[in-house]
Amino acid sequence: MIKVKTGVAGLDKMLNGGLIAGRPYLVSGVPGAGKSIFGMQFLMQAVQEGKSGVYITMEERRRGLKQNFEVFGWDIDKVRVVEATPELGNNMWEIRAEASFINMTLNMNNLTDTIKQHLVSGVDRIVLDSITTLKMLYPSEVDARREILSMIHFLTDTGCTSLLLAEKWDDGRSMESFLAEGSIELRIIEEKGIKKRALEIKKMRGTDFDEQWRPMKITNRGIIVYADEALFKP
Ligand SMILES: Nc1ncnc2c1ncn2[C@@H]1O[C@H](COP(=O)(O)OP(=O)(O)O)[C@@H](O)[C@H]1O
Ligand SMILES: [Mg+2]
Repeated sequence: MIKVKTGVAGLDKMLNGGLIAGRPYLVSGVPGAGKSIFGMQFLMQAVQEGKSGVYITMEERRRGLKQNFEVFGWDIDKVRVVEATPELGNNMWEIRAEASFINMTLNMNNLTDTIKQHLVSGVDRIVLDSITTLKMLYPSEVDARREILSMIHFLTDTGCTSLLLAEKWDDGRSMESFLAEGSIELRIIEEKGIKKRALEIKKMRGTDFDEQWRPMKITNRGIIVYADEALFKP
């Protein structure tokens, strides 16, 4: 069993070495929890190891991402960024990767097919930001579920280690967490008026892991998890 390093300091210790390679994982949290940072940090780790990554962004444009991640000293030009963002109002999605881009009508099959075309062979890691946006394309929960399941199967077939980023609005109801091989949640909690960040590994098939909530911070070097510290002092 091969494990890959996440690039998030402290987390690999919680995972007993890292994520089992070649599987899809869910990373969830409220807006601002740090999901996109987590995703890019995961790809930057791949770059450091001489491997390749694809970041599919359905929310923010490449330019915005580049600016956001510059503070961490990350050069996102080292990963392939695929933009798949809705053009609000005209029912079109635009997909761009490097020089090429296509305008297309809102249609789920096009979208996943086009995303798939950009996942050229030789890619080691994929981040999809986010499946929440993907889900919004479907009129019904049943359709959304079927498509997400198909996306998870597709990602598994690629042999890549992949992260599905998801907005978390509710507790426990998310079906993605059942489908993925593992699930990590990033949280912002408030205690006596002070906000704290925390990370929990909710599920991880095939390996032992630290089940406790651990404190985390977002610093100018990215996300750090304090694997040896308790979130709440006894
Ligand atoms: N350099 C930084 N130092 C500390 N915190 C930061 C820094 N850059 C961003 N953040 C925090 O990260 C949050 C955004 O993280 P992001 O990954 O975009 O969240 P999400 O994708 O979950 O919505 C911001 O709200 C901010 O609190
Ligand atoms: Mg985000």
